[in-house]
Amino acid sequence: MKALVLAGGLGSRLRPFSHSMPKQLIPIANKPVLAHVMENLRDLGVTEIGVIVGDRGGEIARALGDGSSMGVRLTYIQQDSPRGLAHCTSIARDFLGDDDFVMYLGDNMLSSGLHTIADDFRAFRPAAQVVVHKVADPRAFGVAEVDENGRVSRLVEKPQHPRSDLAVIGVYFFTAAIHDAVATIGPSARGELEITDAIQALVDSGADVRARVHSGFWKDTGKVEDVLDCNREFLDALAPAVEGEVDGASELIGAVRVEAGARVVRSRIEGPAIIGAGTLVEDSRIGPHTSIGRDCVLRAAGVDYSILLDGASVQRVGGVSGSVIGRDATVSSAVFAHCNRLVVGDHASVEVAA
Ligand code: TTP
Repeated sequence: MKALVLAGGLGSRLRPFSHSMPKQLIPIANKPVLAHVMENLRDLGVTEIGVIVGDRGGEIARALGDGSSMGVRLTYIQQDSPRGLAHCTSIARDFLGDDDFVMYLGDNMLSSGLHTIADDFRAFRPAAQVVVHKVADPRAFGVAEVDENGRVSRLVEKPQHPRSDLAVIGVYFFTAAIHDAVATIGPSARGELEITDAIQALVDSGADVRARVHSGFWKDTGKVEDVLDCNREFLDALAPAVEGEVDGASELIGAVRVEAGARVVRSRIEGPAIIGAGTLVEDSRIGPHTSIGRDCVLRAAGVDYSILLDGASVQRVGGVSGSVIGRDATVSSAVFAHCNRLVVGDHASVEVAA
């Protein structure tokens, strides 16, 4: 089985970050979302992976290379503009050939637990197998109506009156039958080739389309709040390790990872939290549920439930919570000041008044 990872798109819901980086490279527990995706696929035994990229494909290729460091082989496939998920399968046709494949949205974060779902697909080979997750309010999702044998009878996009609580998540298993189905559909009202329309075409043709429930963690990292939620979830599984320097006047509580070359001076870090390589934390209180990227500077800072991307700095500012601070962005104050939630794009500079 091959994989097709979708890492193009606009990422408009994740502005300002998606103005300056592909949203699929946002770090969760200090690792890009796409690296989590590739590792999940590798753990399913899938190593031949096509990656759909858009305008920011160069940055993705620089971050992931040929995939060998993650134990996979990546082939990049350029999409001229985001014409829909089904458009991605058609431009990947040469790469996919007639092989079965798993299509994985490159902004989706899942805990492990896909093994039995993948094994079932390999064993029974329905024309398509969607993965669903029970949600409290299905109205914002594609919803699958499924019979008692797990067969999909209908897929409905964002229904006003959902007839099931099963949201279709960003992992789909397909045989080559999907290509014929894609060939029969046209653009939707929003102008995209929708994969739900192609799967519905399979259902309508009488093909076997199955749904399997993923009950572990799942989130689409489309918005800042979702990125923070994912970060909290993945930090909860953090293994503590101290490879950098922590002075005697500092205190680490719970699962804290201090990466090589990081320095913690006169500070209190409450885990789960990661301090990235080369970062300085001085006279600060950090965590819980906080990841600090590489080469950041925190002086007299108070930060919890937040993500700092590489090169960010917070100086003389406390109370930073539920925040995402972009690459090389600075948050500072002339004298110590408090603030609250901050969403600061890459390279931006924020001065907090005392
Ligand atoms: P979406 O999150 O549905 O779309 P988007 O990235 O354009 O985001 P937004 O709604 O915030 O503007 O896309 C899901 C994933 O699929 C994401 O990783 C982007 C990718 N994708 C493509 O690669 N090509 C496409 O044509 C589309 C629509 C999405």
